[in-house]
Amino acid sequence: MKIGILNAGNIGGRLARAWAAAGHDLVVAKDGEARKLGPLLEDLGDRARFGTIREAAAFGDVVLFSVYWPRVGAIVEAARDALDGKIVIETMNPLGVTADFNHVHDLAFMRDGSTSEDLQRRLPRARIVKAFNLLAAPALDAAAWAEVPAKPSIFFASDDAGAGDVTRRLIGDAGFKAVNAGPLQVARQLEQLGVLLHHIAEHEFAGEADLVRLAFTVVEAKPGPVMRERIA
Ligand SMILES: NC(=O)c1ccc[n+]([C@@H]2O[C@H](COP(=O)([O-])OP(=O)(O)OC[C@H]3O[C@@H](n4cnc5c(N)ncnc54)[C@H](OP(=O)(O)O)[C@@H]3O)[C@@H](O)[C@H]2O)c1
Repeated sequence: MKIGILNAGNIGGRLARAWAAAGHDLVVAKDGEARKLGPLLEDLGDRARFGTIREAAAFGDVVLFSVYWPRVGAIVEAARDALDGKIVIETMNPLGVTADFNHVHDLAFMRDGSTSEDLQRRLPRARIVKAFNLLAAPALDAAAWAEVPAKPSIFFASDDAGAGDVTRRLIGDAGFKAVNAGPLQVARQLEQLGVLLHHIAEHEFAGEADLVRLAFTVVEAKPGPVMRERIA
């Protein structure tokens, strides 16, 4: 598959490695200083080349849209119509960030909106999918799971069944279990779960969100018969 990586940062860089290893071809873009992509591109070898935001958007049949929420307008502007008709997997959480790199959840925005719905409005001809917004980036490294029998769930949500099917395959190629969470509006709950994850990390794991690794994994199991008795 041809995949454009719109911003090889913490998340995009890791997924680029996983998808290149699975045999996909990539054009990798960076929001910010492109020179920082040097080591990643060296590791990816023939499977990947550098591109601008617009070139990566134009290359991919699937485009990973993994940028900082405050940068969404600038990246959409840079990609323009190159995202028309594309499957766009977006990983954002509605976080503000201060100059000293503290993150702030935009709870007012989250009450009746999501980054996914916002992106769909900005890109009406793109096939938007929400995915990969819950695991902290270090937990996307395949090596983090080498010793663990259960694969963590990556939830996805989309109004486009075909785009969802492709995303399911790419989640599998990245080494995870894909779980369909429903239509795009469910992105609201997935983003709210992210807030819960941060609270849990603060109170139980000294703020290290990457340690809350299996917190939201859905496990398929077959319990014995469940009796539901009605008390008159
Ligand atoms: N990171 C996660 O664990 C995580 C998890 C789930 C969802 N997401 C979402 O996925 C999207 C992409 O996230 P990302 O983390 O992959 O973005 P990113 O591109 O790695 O980082 C975004 C911006 O923050 C800067 N930055 C990164 N780490 C920094 C640090 N330690 N100190 C100062 N500046 C730093 C980057 O600067 P440079 O240009 O210098 O790199 C870049 O300009 C976001 O919408 C995010 O909310 C992230």
